[in-house]
Amino acid sequence: METLLTSLENNIYTITINRPDKMNALNAQVIADLRTAMQHVYDSEEVRGVIITGAGAKAFIAGADIAEFADFNAKEGRLMAANGHAVFNMIENCPKPVIAAVNGFALGGGCELAMACHVRIAAENAKFGQPEVNLGIIPGYGGTQRFVQYIGKGKALELMMTTDMISATEAHTLGLVNHVVAPEALMTKAADMLAKIFTKGPLAIARVIACVNAHFEAQQGGFEREIKEFANSFDSTDFKEGTTAFVEKRKANFTGK
Ligand code: COA
Repeated sequence: METLLTSLENNIYTITINRPDKMNALNAQVIADLRTAMQHVYDSEEVRGVIITGAGAKAFIAGADIAEFADFNAKEGRLMAANGHAVFNMIENCPKPVIAAVNGFALGGGCELAMACHVRIAAENAKFGQPEVNLGIIPGYGGTQRFVQYIGKGKALELMMTTDMISATEAHTLGLVNHVVAPEALMTKAADMLAKIFTKGPLAIARVIACVNAHFEAQQGGFEREIKEFANSFDSTDFKEGTTAFVEKRKANFTGK
């Protein structure tokens, strides 16, 4: 796959998003490759668990690829969100355990991808945030829903509206992250957790995942609403201003139009 590195060891399929010069930003190709990789996870008997991480020491994933979607219209925005939701739902509903090994910035779609995984282990240098409103858009890969599920409504609203980033330690305190470890211990910690889970009944593990996800089924309408509002935000002048400002490396001047 063009944008992913994959390996299989001890029944663990490791998926590494491999665009380190772009902070592993999620473009359409990464989303397509992730879909292929996750289909392999579903189909392969050898794969019993998954670790998702980012290439390089700086970023897990710094969000969706801003340069790619900067001139999208609402229709393209809707398709982008729908494609992302489909893949992230494959991760969340995977009957085999999926762990995010968060090795640096997990912003926007990166934080959202980590939240779609069953467990998050963060390196001490990891940082989390949902900075989309800086661009005049909203989280579009499930963030408005899953952030609330993990950290509660008040803190989720604060972080999505201020775009403040939180450290790995704060993310742990808030319940977003399961464990915080030294960067060099990250992959071992994730592999050790999977090795422990592999000693349990695989069918029982799949049932636990399905039942926990079922707890949130009544709230599926929020995900649909997010796709719609994400798409609508592409029609605004603020979206043009926000993305142009990012590309030009300056502060955005929003007008509310
Ligand atoms: N989309 C596209 N490109 C991105 C990106 C993204 N989400 N995040 C980082 N990049 C690119 C930068 O444009 C830069 O490319 P360049 O070298 O061609 O100019 C490269 O990755 C390195 O990023 P840079 O900003 O120079 O690194 P930094 O250490 O100064 O800052 C971040 C790191 C993560 C704080 C900063 O890149 C950032 O704020 N990224 C955007 C986060 C965001 O808004 N995500 C939500 C998108 S919906």
